[in-house]
Amino acid sequence: KSIAVIFGGKSSEHEVSCVSAVTVIENIDTDAYNLVLIGITKEGKWLRVDSTKQITSGEWYNSKDNAVLSPDASHKGILVIKDNKVERIAIDVVFPVLHGLNGEDGTIQGLLELSGIPYVGCGVLASSISMDKLYTKIVVDTLNIRQAEYVAVLKSDMKNIDKVIANVEEKLKYPVFVKPSNAGSSQGVSKAHDRDELVTGLQEAIKHDRKVLVEKTIIGREIECAILGGSEPKASGVGEILAAADFYDYEAKYHNAESKTIISPEIPKDVEEKIRESAVRIFKAVDGYGLSRVDFFVEKDTNDVVFNEINTLPGFTGISMYPMLWEARGISKKTLIEKMIQSAYS
Ligand code: DAL
Ligand code: MG
Repeated sequence: KSIAVIFGGKSSEHEVSCVSAVTVIENIDTDAYNLVLIGITKEGKWLRVDSTKQITSGEWYNSKDNAVLSPDASHKGILVIKDNKVERIAIDVVFPVLHGLNGEDGTIQGLLELSGIPYVGCGVLASSISMDKLYTKIVVDTLNIRQAEYVAVLKSDMKNIDKVIANVEEKLKYPVFVKPSNAGSSQGVSKAHDRDELVTGLQEAIKHDRKVLVEKTIIGREIECAILGGSEPKASGVGEILAAADFYDYEAKYHNAESKTIISPEIPKDVEEKIRESAVRIFKAVDGYGLSRVDFFVEKDTNDVVFNEINTLPGFTGISMYPMLWEARGISKKTLIEKMIQSAYS
């Protein structure tokens, strides 16, 4: 069987995706599968890539082989265009190792649906809901699971910023988080401690999306849980993020060695169970399938479990929580990836 791993992407999380892809590729059983590597450049060009070595070095950008994933369901594969010649490579399953916009948001999942090729992970609906913080809130509001109180701000609301400020100040206390509704890895996110910072934060966030959320700051521990499985999703144990920065932003996540990940942290058993159970309910509510990582806070003063976000294609780098949570349950990266590929078939 042939499996296509698609990585990179027109997304602010392009680099993370390349690192995740190398981990995924190195853990695919090459005795069982023929590997086809497809890189998407930051500009959105699709290229056939030869090796993980080229991914690590960045050399893959020089590939002359244009790879086309056709929405035509009769192709069931990739068309490689080189020197004006077209070669068809049959593909049995696609593993989109893409984070953020254009990869984790339902867009490529839509293309894969049209192509008729099975793919790993969540479908169109779960991907697009989970990538959109406002719509995730709306869905999770129906579950009676606590999440940070919020105010939604639309681009059109920004014409009357005084009204927006009054609304935020009536409902929330500073400091508040300002977040683009639909964006990956914390880009455009800021923490506003006063009215001036709120205005600057809103102006910045609205550059990234038409919808912005202003959220109450939850003070507490950041605890994450992994979900795996097709029709019967299972929760892993939990892990904790000890962020080096004021909050776990893009810098702290990928460039700051001080951020630490702790698997099976000290946490009351009932709190852990509540997180695991909530993670599965949220995964099902957004119509999740295959895998996700669900992130929570455990509020300092109350020990309340507060849902933060769900990532349908969580990071798969050497320091990523998702594979580590399963390793702690005795599931190696190789087994984990095989399970994901298998669930793509059902
Ligand atoms: N968005 C990054 C890749 C994560 O959630 O792990
Ligand atoms: Mg994310």
